[in-house]
Amino acid sequence: MKVYITRPIVDAAKERLENEKIEVIVGPKAGSSYEQVLEHAKNVDGIITMLSDKIDQTVLESNPNLKVIANYAVGFDNINVNLAKEKSIAVGNTPGVLTEATAECALALLMSVLRQIKASQRYIDQDQWKTWHPTDLMGHNLASRKIGILGMGRIGYEFARICHQAFGSQIFYTHTRNHEEANKKLKATKLEIKELFKTCNVVSLHCPLNDSTHEIINKDLFDLTPEHFILINTARGKVINQEHLVQALKKGSIWGAGLDVTDPEPLDKNHPLYQHDRCIIIPHLGSATWEARTAMANIAAENIIAGLSGKKLPYPVF
Ligand code: GLV
Ligand code: GLV
Repeated sequence: MKVYITRPIVDAAKERLENEKIEVIVGPKAGSSYEQVLEHAKNVDGIITMLSDKIDQTVLESNPNLKVIANYAVGFDNINVNLAKEKSIAVGNTPGVLTEATAECALALLMSVLRQIKASQRYIDQDQWKTWHPTDLMGHNLASRKIGILGMGRIGYEFARICHQAFGSQIFYTHTRNHEEANKKLKATKLEIKELFKTCNVVSLHCPLNDSTHEIINKDLFDLTPEHFILINTARGKVINQEHLVQALKKGSIWGAGLDVTDPEPLDKNHPLYQHDRCIIIPHLGSATWEARTAMANIAAENIIAGLSGKKLPYPVF
């Protein structure tokens, strides 16, 4: 059996697969182009894909022997999952093991925006640090913020838990169902999306990208927010109408944003979002800890091993 890993990931996956006598081909360090993924897909039984690899109809139909796709991510909006299901190609993801890493990343972004870390850096770079200043670069406490969670899944819950238990923040959320544990343990309140944006000082996005979440964050919501509102996104760039976000920051209808994800990725260096002092952008690092990425590699390998032998994947997406 042959498996293609579209670019080098931590060693655990390759080692694990080779222990099972699976032949592993690893793509280039810079990542496989769409054409390279397609070429390799024709000749292998399984693929470990990155969230940046588009696995569409052409790829899925390129090889009748393709058995399994293990996405090296918890999100799987890069894969035509419905078609894979139809063609009996198993698809797996890496849930659970990147929960802390991603929630902590959201927290890092939030703290950086709240305390104006980017503007402070510029302040020094631009020689404005002349004396201790009583009113420059002021921000807000996290403790006093009302935190809104859009999507109370594993990551949303973990982020809410940290904010509530470590900082004492009040938690509100929008979710497809009532989250009993959040209601009880975090004293969280479920709200409709408009109420969430009206009530909270911060909204952090933790929903998957799909037809119902595509650009759900737009100017209608930005117009409802209280003063000093901050938006945090560690989900997917396309959940936000980015043009509306640019305008909202420009007009001051929101105060700041912390973005781990953008549309597209990478975001052009000249994009206006980079110009704003309280818009912090990092290059999709949510799961980028050694702990998370190693656990993800192990799960991806387990998904492949199960899929190649026709067993149910331990972490299936359907
Ligand atoms: C990262 O964005 C992931 O989906 O794992
Ligand atoms: C701040 O550094 C203070 O001493 O108040």
